[in-house]
Amino acid sequence: MNRIKTIISICLLISLITIGNLYAQQKTIPQKVEDLLKKMTLAEKIGQLNQLNGDWEATGPITKDVGSKLDAIKRGEIGSVLNIVGVQHTRAFQDAAMQSRLKIPLLFGQDVIHGYSITFPIPLAEAASWDMPAIEKSARIAATEAAAGGVHWTFAPMVDIARDPRWGRVMEGAGEDPYLGSLIATARVHGFQGKGLGNLDAVMSCAKHFAAYGAAIGGRDYNSVDMSLRTLWEIYLPPFKAAADAGAATFMNSFNDLNGTPASANSYLMRDILKGKWGFKGFVVSDWGSIGEMINHGYVKNNYEAANASINAGSDMDMESRSYINNLAKLVADKKVSVSTIDEAVRRILTKKFELGLFDDPYRFSNAEREKSVLNTPEHVEAAREMARKSIVLLKNEHNVLPLSKDLNSIALIGPLVTAKKEMKGFWSLDVGDETKIVSLYEGMQQAAGKTKLLVAKGCDITDTSRAGFDEAYKTAMHADVVIMAMGERPDMTGEAKSRSNIHLPGVQEDLIKAIMATGKPVVVLLMSGRPMVFNWTADHVPAILYTWWLGNQAGNAMADVLYGNYNPGAKLPITFPRTEGQIPIYYNHYNTGRPAHGDNDVNYTSAYIDLPNSPKYAFGHGLSYTTFGYSNLRFSKKFLSKNESITVSFDLQNTGKYAGEEVAQLYLRQMVSQPVRPIKELKGFQKVMLQPGETKTITFTIDKQKLSFYNDQLQWITEPGEFGLMIGSASDDIRLQDSFSLVNTPAH
Ligand code: BGC
Repeated sequence: MNRIKTIISICLLISLITIGNLYAQQKTIPQKVEDLLKKMTLAEKIGQLNQLNGDWEATGPITKDVGSKLDAIKRGEIGSVLNIVGVQHTRAFQDAAMQSRLKIPLLFGQDVIHGYSITFPIPLAEAASWDMPAIEKSARIAATEAAAGGVHWTFAPMVDIARDPRWGRVMEGAGEDPYLGSLIATARVHGFQGKGLGNLDAVMSCAKHFAAYGAAIGGRDYNSVDMSLRTLWEIYLPPFKAAADAGAATFMNSFNDLNGTPASANSYLMRDILKGKWGFKGFVVSDWGSIGEMINHGYVKNNYEAANASINAGSDMDMESRSYINNLAKLVADKKVSVSTIDEAVRRILTKKFELGLFDDPYRFSNAEREKSVLNTPEHVEAAREMARKSIVLLKNEHNVLPLSKDLNSIALIGPLVTAKKEMKGFWSLDVGDETKIVSLYEGMQQAAGKTKLLVAKGCDITDTSRAGFDEAYKTAMHADVVIMAMGERPDMTGEAKSRSNIHLPGVQEDLIKAIMATGKPVVVLLMSGRPMVFNWTADHVPAILYTWWLGNQAGNAMADVLYGNYNPGAKLPITFPRTEGQIPIYYNHYNTGRPAHGDNDVNYTSAYIDLPNSPKYAFGHGLSYTTFGYSNLRFSKKFLSKNESITVSFDLQNTGKYAGEEVAQLYLRQMVSQPVRPIKELKGFQKVMLQPGETKTITFTIDKQKLSFYNDQLQWITEPGEFGLMIGSASDDIRLQDSFSLVNTPAH
């Protein structure tokens, strides 16, 4: 009997333990976070807010070292490590975290900006595709590869609007337009986070740099930003809002001060807007050392004050400045920072660690087998080629120099970038993949050229001013039927801390182009760069120009595809190309002013330069195709709408040329009269449409209140009744159809 009793008691105990375990497993993430928080000492909490650079390259100035990082991790003083990739490395660091008292896993962050092992085109190039599914796919692949390499978190997308091509970081964003930028922000967040955190192919995204970093005065990196709150809300914040709405797990603040308050201590941005009005549930990381840099700003005296200002303003994690780890305990003791403020930051970070599944298995992203099988698959390579082709902008194509005939005897490939390989990756690419697999223009052409002979001459360097190679290049060109010139910047001339006051095509490259044009041969110029450059002579004299940015691993194949017409280019500029630096800042969605110039020569007391036209060299939205498109038959469902109605506008888009091709049909609106005033044009919709030769499709846009609203002086999101100009076209300066409609107070009949 006693034995039976004992057995029953044991069974009861086992089931109680099982139920207990099940209950623990069934706990929600918020419950698990609270349980853990209760066990943590203040020092352990502060450790979670501290992020340090790992053993990969540093992407900023290293703060003086603090001894062994692994020992600090074991003591629970580090919550996250950046710049550490690969299963082997991440495992070693996670091993140390597993020796800490509470075994809280580390988060590994990395700038996976445009690809991980397979490099995709730079973000600005991808933006030129205006192709959201393709952009999302690119981020998806980057995430899949990064997550297989031990990375939990990418510091992307950068969603900073940029109206100044001198700023080196234009390469990293989506250009100048808030509407296009918002769609791209959404696509990238969805791409990185896939079906949601916790999946083995999803990494946390990070919308950066919050906020207005792209408006650095003079285009000089890290410089101050001074702007009206209305411009902030209308132009610079929308892509951040889109990223938050898309579920971005994290935000990063920025180096700049905004109207005198550094972003890293800007509670208006972080507390009022992001965590308040927008209800953001993720966490905010500072930029590299930006909390400590507030001493240089003159905003605080020392790191103690810096930590105080930042944590209270809503910066949850300190990247690399060590202000938090060294000062927060004292700030709590001094009653300057409350434990609940610390808890709130820790809670946000732990929540993400739980969502990623790291408490179930801290090594789940560090699996050597997966790392081997997931990286560099043929599908990834093919997607990179497809994305690269979609990013190439045909700026000019006179006399149909392009596409190239397959029957040419010989082609001369001339210029400093013809055989360049690793350069094709551009800035913010990782040293993970095999650089021998990157396809240069020369290699791409070798694959595509068939019997056509390829002659190669460098001609000159990128920045060097020697003309010693001109003669040989001239002679090479004389032997060829067609000349293709690969010109541009060095990849490290755009990117962080890469602002330029002079954005002309560098060195003597434009002189080489002139010399080659003197041969009388048909010339095609390919321009490689991370920003809009100035190249007026080339633009005015060379018959065919392709802007190829930095296209990534498959650059050469993609360029050859386009040169031969195996792919018909359809990209459109996401940023205005100025005639010269004196026009900057230049953007299409400006106000009309009281004395607008009528045309480029109207300088009679108008808002104009007496030595330069107002128009850009290439406008926002510009980009040609090997075929042509006709726009006709604009019609409205009705011409009046009230606030809660919508109307549709339709038109017929026809492929009027010889090649199948894609057009990005763009819809712009202008409120004719309002207070405050509205821009002369704002992109409010677009559709990318594939048409066979002769084919016509009806395109329809819906216009509702959302498209007609704007911020008034009190920053209220309002509509004002009145007349709206409607413009539909192939570029912001190539409007093919226009009319107007009105927003009225009462429902229209
Ligand atoms: C950049 C960030 C980047 C960080 C980490 C900073 O210098 O501004 O965009 O994510 O470094 O590499």
